[in-house]
Amino acid sequence: MTARLRPMRWQDIDAVDDLERRLFGTDAWSPASWWSELAARPHTAYAVLEAGADRGEVTDVPLLGYAGLARSRPLADVMTIAVHPQAQGGGHGRQLMRWLIEQAALAGAEALMLEVRADNAAARALYEAKGFGQISVRRRYYQPDGVDALVMRRRLTPADGVPTTRPAAAPLAQAAP
Ligand SMILES: CC(C)(COP(=O)(O)OP(=O)(O)OC[C@H]1O[C@@H](n2cnc3c(N)ncnc32)[C@H](O)[C@@H]1OP(=O)(O)O)[C@@H](O)C(=O)NCCC(=O)NCCS
Repeated sequence: MTARLRPMRWQDIDAVDDLERRLFGTDAWSPASWWSELAARPHTAYAVLEAGADRGEVTDVPLLGYAGLARSRPLADVMTIAVHPQAQGGGHGRQLMRWLIEQAALAGAEALMLEVRADNAAARALYEAKGFGQISVRRRYYQPDGVDALVMRRRLTPADGVPTTRPAAAPLAQAAP
């Protein structure tokens, strides 16, 4: 299956909201939050990963995933990263994380920060594989479950901002994960 990364648009919010609710349940952002995050560009950057758009492939999962960050300096923040349950384990999380790192480096940040639930093994493994290290713990941060939040950081270098993407006017990225 081909995958194409492109900027998130207002028109994507319904599909993103569906996937968000499916993945995050009661912790899901509201549609109003998505509108607000997109309105905050260029201080934020959000992308969606689409399936099969190039060759007209038909798929049950048109929206493979999405990711976004706050392009703050010196510390940029991962706001979200998510892959459709039917598409997980296929390298899309890595692709989205590559894009987040690249965007943070291009914005001039010195490091990229994120928070993750201590019980989210898949996300933690992805972050560690992409060079994040734990720097602190927020005890019982996620309520009502009382699960800790791990704060993780990845230092950035100019090399992280070397685009893996196509030139202007083309999709943000186009690659097999
Ligand atoms: C976390 C998430 C984005 C990973 O996306 P993905 O497309 O499944 O990840 P990838 O296929 O690119 O895998 C990348 C790495 O993540 C880790 N990983 C992915 N799924 C895993 C799992 N089920 N268990 C353990 N590690 C896992 C592995 O280290 C993997 O590298 P490997 O393939 O070399 O072993 C995805 O599981 C997801 O959307 N989860 C629900 C939403 C969420 O929790 N978001 C993060 C909030 S902080």
